[in-house]
Amino acid sequence: MFEHLRCAVLLIALLCLLSSCAGSGPTGEWKQLKDLRASMYAEMKYSRACIKLMTRTGPQGCEAADQELITAPLVYSYDLPALPRGGRKVVVLPASDVDPFLTRLETEPALREQVAGVLVDPTSGLPARQSVAPTFPGAAFAPYSAPSYVWNPAGTGFNRHFFGIPMYILTGALANETSWRAAYNAENKLKGGRHVARMQLPMQAEGNSSQCIQENTCLPVGGYGVWTALPPLPDPSYNTTGSARPITLLLAQTDSNSLFHDATRAAGTATSGLVACLVALNLLARAGLAGTYGRQLAFAALPGEAFDFMGSKRLLYEMSLNSSYVQGLRLDLIDQVLEVGQVGSAFDDARNRSSFFVHSQRTAGFGNASALLAAAQTAATLEAPQVSVQSASAANPGIPPSSLMSFLRVKPSIAGAVLSDFDSAFTNPYYQSDFDIGTNVSLEALVDASLLVARTLHLLAASPATPPLQLNRTLALYLVADLVVCLVWDTPGMRCPTAALLMSPDIQVFYDGTTSAAVSAYPGVLPWVDADPKASRSKPNLARFLFNYLGNITAAPLPANRSNSSWEGAPCDTTVNICPASLACIGWRYSTTDTAGMGRCRNTSTNYVPAYSTRLWYGFNKSWWGWWLSDAAADWEAAYDWPPDPMWAESNWPARTPTLTVFQEESTRTQVATLVVGLLLSVATAAVSWAGVKAFERHLKTQ
Ligand SMILES: *[C@@H]1O[C@H](CO)[C@@H](O)[C@H](O)[C@H]1NC(C)=O
Ligand SMILES: *[C@@H]1O[C@H](CO)[C@@H](O)[C@H](O)[C@H]1NC(C)=O
Ligand SMILES: *[C@@H]1O[C@H](CO)[C@@H](O)[C@H](O)[C@H]1NC(C)=O
Ligand SMILES: *[C@@H]1O[C@H](CO)[C@@H](O)[C@H](O)[C@H]1NC(C)=O
Ligand SMILES: *[C@@H]1O[C@H](CO)[C@@H](O)[C@H](O)[C@H]1NC(C)=O
Ligand SMILES: *[C@@H]1O[C@H](CO)[C@@H](O)[C@H](O)[C@H]1NC(C)=O
Ligand SMILES: *[C@@H]1O[C@H](CO)[C@@H](O)[C@H](O)[C@H]1NC(C)=O
Ligand SMILES: *[C@@H]1O[C@H](CO)[C@@H](O)[C@H](O)[C@H]1NC(C)=O
Ligand SMILES: *[C@@H]1O[C@H](CO)[C@@H](O)[C@H](O)[C@H]1NC(C)=O
Ligand SMILES: *[C@@H]1O[C@H](CO)[C@@H](O)[C@H](O)[C@H]1NC(C)=O
Ligand SMILES: *[C@@H]1O[C@H](CO)[C@@H](O)[C@H](O)[C@H]1NC(C)=O
Ligand SMILES: *[C@@H]1O[C@H](CO)[C@@H](O)[C@H](O)[C@H]1NC(C)=O
Repeated sequence: MFEHLRCAVLLIALLCLLSSCAGSGPTGEWKQLKDLRASMYAEMKYSRACIKLMTRTGPQGCEAADQELITAPLVYSYDLPALPRGGRKVVVLPASDVDPFLTRLETEPALREQVAGVLVDPTSGLPARQSVAPTFPGAAFAPYSAPSYVWNPAGTGFNRHFFGIPMYILTGALANETSWRAAYNAENKLKGGRHVARMQLPMQAEGNSSQCIQENTCLPVGGYGVWTALPPLPDPSYNTTGSARPITLLLAQTDSNSLFHDATRAAGTATSGLVACLVALNLLARAGLAGTYGRQLAFAALPGEAFDFMGSKRLLYEMSLNSSYVQGLRLDLIDQVLEVGQVGSAFDDARNRSSFFVHSQRTAGFGNASALLAAAQTAATLEAPQVSVQSASAANPGIPPSSLMSFLRVKPSIAGAVLSDFDSAFTNPYYQSDFDIGTNVSLEALVDASLLVARTLHLLAASPATPPLQLNRTLALYLVADLVVCLVWDTPGMRCPTAALLMSPDIQVFYDGTTSAAVSAYPGVLPWVDADPKASRSKPNLARFLFNYLGNITAAPLPANRSNSSWEGAPCDTTVNICPASLACIGWRYSTTDTAGMGRCRNTSTNYVPAYSTRLWYGFNKSWWGWWLSDAAADWEAAYDWPPDPMWAESNWPARTPTLTVFQEESTRTQVATLVVGLLLSVATAAVSWAGVKAFERHLKTQ
């Protein structure tokens, strides 16, 4: 017995020796096995799935029912009619086929029965237009009732539907894999070794958002917006001057909502207006005339607006509370609101000019916005003939879907206007679409919008003592291009030079080792609420970028001979060298004692403000920190007749999901053959080893 053991050990040692002599060590073999696996399996892990969201009335989005693993053969949408009907299939959808196919899926039960999952292939050409928002996004929140009016002609409303099956948007590599595998299946009529997709998309939230918040199986959809003032407010409460100046508030939205959150971009939907606002403020700050203005300028970049105006509603609620997030941004002082909406398609190549429209609520009881329209039209004459501004058609039912709707609900006397590139219906073909990646946003339109907004604000705010504004189109183009690289392009995204000077972005690392710093336009979830309105630590990339960019441009210039005893201009970070409340730490990049990576305390009224449902509260209760349902805002909501709060939340899912694997199943005949070959091999191996052992025994015995 003992002898046998010794022999076996020797044999193993010999085998190891032999294999290393042959020049292919164990690691080399591994690599080959991995390669072999890669040639059979293609995977996409932890990303690019359609996720289950929750509202107060129920679910939205996708999941694998009962958290099951779903495996079914791959089939192109257009091959479906020619294939055997029985059995469920995973349908590969060219991007241009998404809307018609999903519409059929919802209306044809016979088709629905056949579909186990959907894989969208974005590499095969974009649809001419696509939008998963409804035709009148947020109709219930408008200051007028015209629910059947069509603002968004491409709208399908899919971002309000529950599909209940797994859906993914493919990467280029996976699209290549699924395309030849689906073609193989179609050719062989799904017989023989079929290529299948295995989808793992378990979602834990059930029922509705109040249920999942209580059961702790979801987190609120939300994020952080940023607001600022130009020039900085005299003190955070804006209370020291006897007669505070009236505020002209500039608004832009920061994000979007489409089916695949990881792929969601907002180039035309929100970023076009955001870039125009940032560049306009930059130009005004550089002109240095804000100190002479008769009005106070303020700006708010709002997240979550694609989720039933969550960001503007929360901002207004915080203002009603005079909370620490909004000190100085007093609603009683805000009497003008200019929102910059979709402006990316304003430029017309053929006519070499950009056309903009000013929308305002003309029905009785709302503020008179004629001063805003007049300012915009005067501003346009200063950029003519490149820029034209018209009042939107009087036949429109009112203002288009916008954050201004929230402001007019709470304070109807505000003179409010929305600047856009459309008149009666959206011209951007990708409003709240997975394909809103900038193909239909032109630099000319953004430059023209930036100059127009800067001039309009200047005209509105100027006092008799204010000199005229000189603008430089070349500079505006540089600033626009700079921001487009950071906010619209996937690469470099937040690794752009401007962001690198202001912050150190979080980099996403994917399962395959690739990385990305692209700005995601899905707001994300709020695991907790940071009570500090100036803390940059653990804020998402986009909010942090906006805070530092706005802080840097709106801050009062540093005194040339700064004294050691003053905090203004002093190096700061987020943990030790914390600026006093009236100053903000701008440009902090990394934790170090090296002052190069530290920020500087600057006199700026830039603040973060959270965005999440007004029906939720984060805090300590029942002995732990967490999210709770709350009626605290109920009276305020009732006072302004808000529609029921939708309470958007995102389902939790288990670690290491979602996944998508495509591979070839063995046919029944192959399976039998494999078994037989396997058995024969085992027998042969056993015989060889036995012979080997015997040979060794003999060898040892002869010694
Ligand atoms: C949400 O779910 C809970 C528990 O299932 C139920 O009591 C409540 O009525 C639901 N709310 C709505 C608005 O449907
Ligand atoms: C898929 O990739 C292979 C190898 O990289 C390439 O030869 C082939 O043309 C690609 N197929 C498609 C449809 O893109
Ligand atoms: C910041 O600047 C404003 C004027 O722009 C001034 O009124 C205010 O006192 C300054 N605040 C601090 C803390 O220096
Ligand atoms: C701030 O202004 C408000 C309204 O003008 C006033 O009621 C309040 O007393 C002031 N607070 C301070 C600290 O001056
Ligand atoms: C808002 O709150 C601040 C600080 O709590 C206070 O100084 C200020 O007077 C308040 N303003 C109003 C208008 O209530
Ligand atoms: C709005 O104001 C302008 C001038 O300030 C005036 O001409 C116009 O009649 C006003 N419109 C309404 C509806 O009051
Ligand atoms: C378009 O207009 C701009 C400014 O009005 C001008 O500088 C430019 O040369 C024009 N381009 C063409 C192609 O006409
Ligand atoms: C969007 O851009 C594409 C490519 O530049 C163009 O062909 C198409 O006409 C544009 N669509 C709209 C509605 O502007
Ligand atoms: C406009 O800005 C560009 C880029 O910053 C600069 O090179 C140019 O000199 C400026 N022109 C004027 C007239 O200031
Ligand atoms: C910060 O502001 C200064 C002065 O306004 C400007 O020169 C600089 O380029 C800005 N930095 C960034 C990264 O935008
Ligand atoms: C800073 O310089 C200004 C004039 O440029 C002077 O009035 C002031 O006293 C100086 N302050 C210090 C602390 O040196
Ligand atoms: C400021 O502080 C530094 C180090 O703490 C010191 O070396 C320097 O002399 C001080 N400067 C003034 C003007 O007090």
